[in-house]
Order: sequence, then structure tokens, then C-alpha cells
Amino acid sequence: MPASQTSTPPQTAPGARPRPQPLLTPSGLPAITDWSLDPAVRHLNHGSFGGVPLAAQRAQAAYRATMDANPCGWFPMLHERVAAARADIAAHLGADTAATALVPNASAGAAVVFAGVPARPGMRIVTTDHGYGAVVMGAERLARRWGGSVTTVRIPLDATEDEAYEAVAAEMTPDVALVVIDQITSATARELPAGRVAAHGRRLGIPVLVDAAHAPGLVAAPLAGVDADFWVGNLHKFSCAPRGTAALVTSGPHTDALHPTIDSWGARLPFPERFDHQGTLDVTSYLAAPVAFAAVEEHYGWDEARRYLTELADYAEDIVARALSEATGADASAEVGCPVNGLRLVRLPEGLATDHADAHALRQELSARLGVETAVTTFGGRGFVRLSTHVYNTAEDFEDFVERCVPFLVARARATAGR
Ligand SMILES: Cc1ncc(COP(=O)(O)O)c(C=O)c1O
Repeated sequence: MPASQTSTPPQTAPGARPRPQPLLTPSGLPAITDWSLDPAVRHLNHGSFGGVPLAAQRAQAAYRATMDANPCGWFPMLHERVAAARADIAAHLGADTAATALVPNASAGAAVVFAGVPARPGMRIVTTDHGYGAVVMGAERLARRWGGSVTTVRIPLDATEDEAYEAVAAEMTPDVALVVIDQITSATARELPAGRVAAHGRRLGIPVLVDAAHAPGLVAAPLAGVDADFWVGNLHKFSCAPRGTAALVTSGPHTDALHPTIDSWGARLPFPERFDHQGTLDVTSYLAAPVAFAAVEEHYGWDEARRYLTELADYAEDIVARALSEATGADASAEVGCPVNGLRLVRLPEGLATDHADAHALRQELSARLGVETAVTTFGGRGFVRLSTHVYNTAEDFEDFVERCVPFLVARARATAGR
């Protein structure tokens, strides 16, 4: 069934969450008309690669047209445009512009930190088992270069904020050169006490990198209460900026050690101005990012957007977990300590997505066979479906998931068990 077709809303089960009414544009159209998302696909995974409103796409195309009309007029003064966009992006984050550098993505921000943090031969880097794989691999490479090691703190999925904090803090001993902690985790869709860990790092003189890739847009003021040496957040996820837009916000003694991965004519400038120079690179994503923030603000208001995506995520998690539980007889609700507003986990039937490769294959199958884009994750040998919500999603999106994906997943689990 094409995703645009209407499915019958399920009967409301006792204790079920109310069915959210869709958000509309000011002219009364479905919110998805502000995006260019393929109507033949169910888009339930904003969290992975975002979604860019048409207004921001058009703004970026206009910047590109200007660049292509006269490259020699564009590049020499580009840093001035980037500095202006940086101020807007910092304002969106509630950050100090002078502490904010623009980088293409969270991975790039982490790479800048790994290259700049003071080398401490033989020292440890502390991360958690909820860390983002690509960032953790960077930390491991750094530890190898230092002749040191990575300590992975185990945090149970259902750990409370205090338990998670205590587990990380217990490893923050004088032989630690860096702590990497997620503000919102990717595979497990939970918050970790990044602000408290950063404050503890400050007290002990241990640098802390907060990976806040998911926080901008989902959290109204993602830096409030998070005074970290290094904080990196993606604007191209929930803030809806064109892809290739992230911020690296720093404070403390290590700021001067940070240099852009592409070291260009800004090399002798102080932080963050030196990041405004990136050689001959298309950074129109940075320039159009403020248009994306304004598009959501003008049509929905960010506070209302966050209220809606939370309400919709409550509903989505509820109906998907109920349907899977009923079909398998096993509780599909995921006990997530400190869950997130617009990212939710539901437990997959036993035997599915038990490792990263299986999770990837299952996600691909849901996409190719059913036209449903969703994240499938794995943690502690258990598979989960991670549901994302944004303003363009509706209750019907998740009802369709229940109708078509749940039977598929249950059949797949039975086939796996029978092998
Ligand atoms: C927690 C976390 N860190 C880092 C990243 C990497 O983001 P990017 O691919 O934009 O560099 C992601 C992407 O999903 C993430 O979830």
C-alpha cells in the first residue's frame, strides 16, 4: 500500500494514549507540504538524517546560484556570510557566538576535538556503551595513538539519571584524559546526564566532550546546564537545517587547541573565526540553516512543534508496543530510563536485530519491501525499532506501521526462530 493511502485508525484500547490531531500549515495544509518528502514512503526516521523544509532548500539553492554565477565574487568574502550564519545558529542554540564554531557534522566536531585535546600518553578515554559507533571509533584511534586505552562504562538501558552519572563519575580518575558522553543517545534514545558529567570533569580538570548530535531542535535550550569543554550538536537533525551543518561549542582552557579539519586562510585567526574559512567548499548549508529554523518557527512555533512531537511519540510508542506485545505475547515496551521527547524505542521480537549488521539488514528490508523508513537499533544483544517524530508526522504514519510492519516483524521473528 502506498504510504499516502489512508489506513483505518485502530479502535482506542483501554488506557491508550489520545490520538494526536495533525499539525497544519497556517493555510490549513498538512505540515508535510512544507517538506519535499516522497509521499510513497513512510518517513519515521527523522532522527537519522533529518529532513529539510522546502523554504530552506530554496534558500540554499539561491545561495548556490549566486556562488555559481560568480565563484570569484563568492569565495573571497564567504567567511563574512559564514560568521553571520554562525551568529544565527548560536542564537538558535542559546550559545555564545564567540564560543561557537561551525563544522559540517557531529563526526567532524568530534574529529576536531580528538585532534586538539592535549595528548596524554598512556592515559584513558572514558566513554559509554551508548556511544555513537563512529565517534567511539575515533576515540579508540586516539587512544591507540597515545598508547592508552578506552574504558567503556556500562549503563543499563533503564538506569536512572543518578545511576548513569555515578557509573561514569566512578571512572573519572586522574589517569583519564578525556570523557566522551552523549546528551541524547542514538541506539538507545535516552538522555544521559551530560551536564553533570561535564561539571564533574571541570572540578577534576578532565576534559569532557558532549556528543549532542540529536539535541538541537529536540531540546529548547540544549546548552542550558551543560558547561562542557566541548559540545557538538547537529543542526541537520531535529533543527531541520540543510545537511552538513553542525556546531562545536567550547569553553574552558582547551579552546585555543581546536583547529578546523580543513585548515585554511583562517589558520592564524582565533577560535572560532578560523573555522569560518574552509577553502573552496560549498558551505551553503550553513547559510540556509537560519531559514530552516525560521520556517518551523513561523508555521508551527518551536515550542508547539516540540509539544506535538512529544504527544505523537507517546502515541506512536504506545500503539506499536501494544501491537507487538499482543502479537508475540511478550512485552515489547522498552524500559528506557530518561526517555527523549521525539525519539522512542520499542523492543523487537526476540531474535531480531541482535547485532548491528542484522539491525541494518532489517532496516533495509522495511525500506525496500514496505516503503517504511525507520531506525532499527541494537543494544545489549536485543533489537529495537527507534521511532522518530517531527511536525510532518501524523498518527496515521504509526497506525500504518502497526498495520503493515508489525505483522512483517512478527513473521520474520518466527522464521528466524524456526531456522
Ligand atoms: C549520538 C550521535 N553522534 C554522532 C552522530 C554523527 O552525526 P553525523 O553523521 O551528522 O556526523 C550521530 C548521528 O546520528 C549521533 O546520533
